[in-house]
Amino acid sequence: TDRYAVIGHPIAHSKSPAIHAAFAAQTAQDLSYEALLAPLDGFAAAVAQFRAQGGRGMNITVPFKEEAWQLADRLTERARLAGAVNTFVFGGDVQGDNTDGAGLVRDLEVLGAPLAGARVLLLGAGGAARGVILPLIDAGVARLFIANRTADKARALQAHFAGHDARGVLAAGGWQEAADAPYDVVINATSASLSDEAPPLPAGLYAPDSLAYDMVYGRGLTAYLKQARDQGAARLADGLGMLVEQAAEAFALWRGVHPDTAAVRATLRAALP
Ligand code: ATR
Repeated sequence: TDRYAVIGHPIAHSKSPAIHAAFAAQTAQDLSYEALLAPLDGFAAAVAQFRAQGGRGMNITVPFKEEAWQLADRLTERARLAGAVNTFVFGGDVQGDNTDGAGLVRDLEVLGAPLAGARVLLLGAGGAARGVILPLIDAGVARLFIANRTADKARALQAHFAGHDARGVLAAGGWQEAADAPYDVVINATSASLSDEAPPLPAGLYAPDSLAYDMVYGRGLTAYLKQARDQGAARLADGLGMLVEQAAEAFALWRGVHPDTAAVRATLRAALP
């Protein structure tokens, strides 16, 4: 039995063990997947211990994704640019990858919001936003505007990804500068929803068939999604699908087989309040 784990602090409420157990059952893979609580000052030691015990890979969650980026011996290009690692693959060394952006791209496909040629507005310029920019560019968006409360942070992110923006799709600025609308997809990657706040966005961002997407999940209709509905977005989505899809991408890295996510998506959805 190959061992895997998710490591974080806190970790008790992680859905990853259930998600990966379902994937393993569906694909008939002989593996175990546990949740590890690392002390805040004990991440590297906990990783080393799990590896020494024969662990084959890990998922990394809050607050260790940046430390995992530091710890990896090698990084995939998408992880290097994300500045954060959510997946370790243990072989002769520790490979760090980041499947969050790929998970978001997959989820948007599943939701019927294809990204090729789409105009996308990304709200936020912290770690969550940074983690999804390269996969969004690579998915073929026609426009990706990064908007943030602190406009300079959005512009810094644009500069960070400039070398991967051969088609010139990136732009950045404050909320008001995002008014170059409408957008096909608007993605909330700020942490505002955690305090039930919505960014003060200008009107007119949404066309009648636009999708408003909040990366958080399990909080019902967030302040951002309510605002988007009131501003005319016809389709609303939370980040539960992204959670499942980033897990499926990690599972595929480890096991070489991509699970069908439909059943897990439905099960988790049904369990939410
Ligand atoms: P994360 O890893 O979740 O992205 P982070 O790196 O601390 O967390 O980034 C938080 C993001 O949410 C930032 O873009 C932040 O805006 P600033 O750069 O201006 O600080 C944004 N954010 C947090 N609270 C917000 C609020 N109440 N309204 C709008 N944006 C908010």
